[in-house]
Amino acid sequence: MAGSTFGTHFKITTWGESHGKGIGVIVDGCPAGLPLEQTDIQAFLNRRKPGQSRYSTQRKEADAVEILSGVFEGKTTGTPISLIVFNQDQNSRDYGDIASYYRPGHADYTFDMKYGFRDYRGGGRSSGRETIGRVAGGAIAAKILDHLGISFLTYTRSIGPISISKSPEELLAQNSLKASSSILSNPLYMPEEAACTEAQKFLETCMEHKDSAGGVIECIITGVPAGIGEPVFDKLDAALAKAIFSIGAVKGFEIGDGFAAAALLGSENNDNFEMKNNIPVLSTNHAGGILGGISNGMPIIFRTAIKPTPSIASIQNTVNKNGENIEISIHGRHDPVIVPRAVVVVESMAALTLLDLMMEHMGSQLNYLKQLYSHEQ
Ligand SMILES: Cc1cc2nc3c(=O)[nH]c(=O)nc-3n(C[C@H](O)[C@H](O)[C@H](O)COP(=O)(O)O)c2cc1C
Repeated sequence: MAGSTFGTHFKITTWGESHGKGIGVIVDGCPAGLPLEQTDIQAFLNRRKPGQSRYSTQRKEADAVEILSGVFEGKTTGTPISLIVFNQDQNSRDYGDIASYYRPGHADYTFDMKYGFRDYRGGGRSSGRETIGRVAGGAIAAKILDHLGISFLTYTRSIGPISISKSPEELLAQNSLKASSSILSNPLYMPEEAACTEAQKFLETCMEHKDSAGGVIECIITGVPAGIGEPVFDKLDAALAKAIFSIGAVKGFEIGDGFAAAALLGSENNDNFEMKNNIPVLSTNHAGGILGGISNGMPIIFRTAIKPTPSIASIQNTVNKNGENIEISIHGRHDPVIVPRAVVVVESMAALTLLDLMMEHMGSQLNYLKQLYSHEQ
């Protein structure tokens, strides 16, 4: 299988299947000297852990991470960091039927067409559990970015038809501690109590009907200096889009005004410049913090559309491996909505992408190289 590695300078390779012995990641390219504890990584993994509410799979997993290498006396050594989470609550019997038919909306059919053989238990490599490795690696990237004054605010904007009313700017205007505690204070990671209550009612109805729901995740990154990203194939927005689209169940990505920009006039969509404290700043942020593939110093704001969980218990039509049309009802423990658990996955992929391009940026000006290598002081 190709394509399990992400990044050029700060690189992760994820491995493992949902019902195998364990799942994990190798992080290569992490600078030496970063203070790193198991708890830094665990805090991120706890945000995607299953079984925390009625709105996630009832699979009970501690998702306890172990650091196998790359850290000595509480600091990274600059060598590959290997992280493992042992799978504990597999119930492969739930998946016996899936071996013989193709679930609508899941990767069963395409995986068979590609490999001719698949680990059908829990979706194997196409399982949401694969994202454990991304989140563990993302926790390290986010910790490095935190040292550079870069922060993330990632939350559920909508579930089904229910959306929060505050704009990203309004959320940013709140004290950031208050904003993040309002996100973490509810099982849907929605930073508005009234919307969260409505969304829970909506999910209860979906569950009664043995159905599932989707939604939108929004991510705001602050503190990113102007100049990050490359102008052609490695544009920051293109790199973010690729990273986010590599997460299962993602069906849309937009930055700044996104699709809404198509209906604006140039005069409405352009962000004007003005001088503030002797530097050019933008007076609005329709672009979402990126121009020409390069960060412009404004907050980076993007949204991700997540589809409804494909495995549902209501009756669906499909075909089995004998070529017969059949009716199925999928059992097993599935997320009635993927959105809340994917919030930290989106944040992790954004952190990995940004850090990688920040490392790339270090060689973009002669002065930067001189600062590092010149003997003249
Ligand atoms: C965090 C997370 C949890 C997921 N949980 C489930 C689940 O419980 N059941 C399911 O059928 N799909 C789940 N998925 C989605 C499938 O992995 C995904 O829909 C499938 O691999 C097909 O890929 P595609 O939707 O990108 O085309 C989850 C995805 C993520 C990111």
